[in-house]
Amino acid sequence: MRSLLLGLTLTVLLSELPSHTAAAPYLICYYDSAGYERQGLAQFSLADLELALQFCTHVIYGYAGINPDTYEMKSLNQPLDFERRHFAQITALKEKYPYIKFLLSVGGDRDLEQEDKYVKLLEAGTQAQARFINSARDIIRRFNFDGLDLAFQLPRNKPRKVHSEAGMVWKSFKKFFTGDFIVDPDAETHKTQMTNLVKDLNTALKANDLLLSLTVLPNVNSSWYFDAPVIGKNVDFINLATFDFLTPARNPEEADYSAPLYEAFGQNRLPHYNVNFQMEHWLLQRVPASKLNIGVASYGRAWKLTIDSGSSGQPVLLADGPAHAGPQTKTEGLLNWAEICQLLPNPSNVNANGHAAPIKRVPDPTKRYGSYAYRAADENGLYGLWVSYDDPETASSKAQYVRAKNLGGIALFDLTLDDFRGQCTGDRFPMLRAIKYRLL
Ligand SMILES: *[C@@H]1O[C@H](CO)[C@@H](O)[C@H](O)[C@H]1NC(C)=O
Repeated sequence: MRSLLLGLTLTVLLSELPSHTAAAPYLICYYDSAGYERQGLAQFSLADLELALQFCTHVIYGYAGINPDTYEMKSLNQPLDFERRHFAQITALKEKYPYIKFLLSVGGDRDLEQEDKYVKLLEAGTQAQARFINSARDIIRRFNFDGLDLAFQLPRNKPRKVHSEAGMVWKSFKKFFTGDFIVDPDAETHKTQMTNLVKDLNTALKANDLLLSLTVLPNVNSSWYFDAPVIGKNVDFINLATFDFLTPARNPEEADYSAPLYEAFGQNRLPHYNVNFQMEHWLLQRVPASKLNIGVASYGRAWKLTIDSGSSGQPVLLADGPAHAGPQTKTEGLLNWAEICQLLPNPSNVNANGHAAPIKRVPDPTKRYGSYAYRAADENGLYGLWVSYDDPETASSKAQYVRAKNLGGIALFDLTLDDFRGQCTGDRFPMLRAIKYRLL
């Protein structure tokens, strides 16, 4: 009763606040339209999206791209976005949900034709950039989006290579080849160019009353590409995609927490591969906390274990690249929460074997690193699996962190990989719900 009253008072208070001081935390819902085109149980419909909208303050439509010759922004899937009117279908939801902002995102690791074109755009000078800016503004306006999200595919941290000495215990004798190679010798110049582009974009968009947000993709190093104080002033908010620090594609031999909140000590882990480090990086440069959002992935990263990985499950583990694809997402090295949940021990998989055999869940009572679950390889070296993931519980501890630090909110990547059918417990969108309830 007391909390109900408190809740009501809060609601009244919040609704009386003028909108520019918006005190309610953001819940930014990425919607990757690739989910709309998946098949079977993974197919995400407009009705599914509508069900999620009660929890979202923003929807970010993924993804548009850029033309490598003209640098104009373009749809990456014209048959869907234009011919089947998917852009318009999505923004038409604004009529029913007028308080939600809909943004269109460009890049996001979906724009795979000539990936270095994002850096080339930075180098291309103001005329080429004006073409990008004008085309972006035109698409945003034509399809009635509320703004643009920049998820530029800039050069990534090089994953370090790990090697075990033959016949040695991997944990104690692994060697790191950090190789102090320079990923981008012109990073300083690119940072200046990025800053200027963001300023020009923001000017153009604000003249049309449109929003501009920045998404920092996983393993894009913020120190190299973003002049935090200036970027902070020229965007409405910043989403840090603080996950995929380690992935089976980038780190095939090294299975470890893929999205820890804090640094897990020991075993030569890199100090910047965790949420807290990334957030502090921006906060220390005086970017207002209220503009900074933490990205949470609605999927886990899955490695294949071998006999040499041992049977303890405890990371860091020697692994053998991406695990077998899941039955619904059909993507090597990735399992969504619905798939993970159905692999955890339950009445229907007691006698299952092979890739369907149950996996052992190891929760994280410290709430610092996230959960993992695994199945040791059998005597023939088969069916070994190790998956690092956020479940509703650990996602909610990230929301708790957001509250404790008065950050802007959480950005969920993405709706279509949450358990939107409620296959796990009957609750639809369990990740989204867990985050929402903790953010309130
Ligand atoms: C960028 O990379 C350098 C070198 O690896 C690292 O020291 C720094 O912490 C990284 N910055 C961020 C924000 O991750």
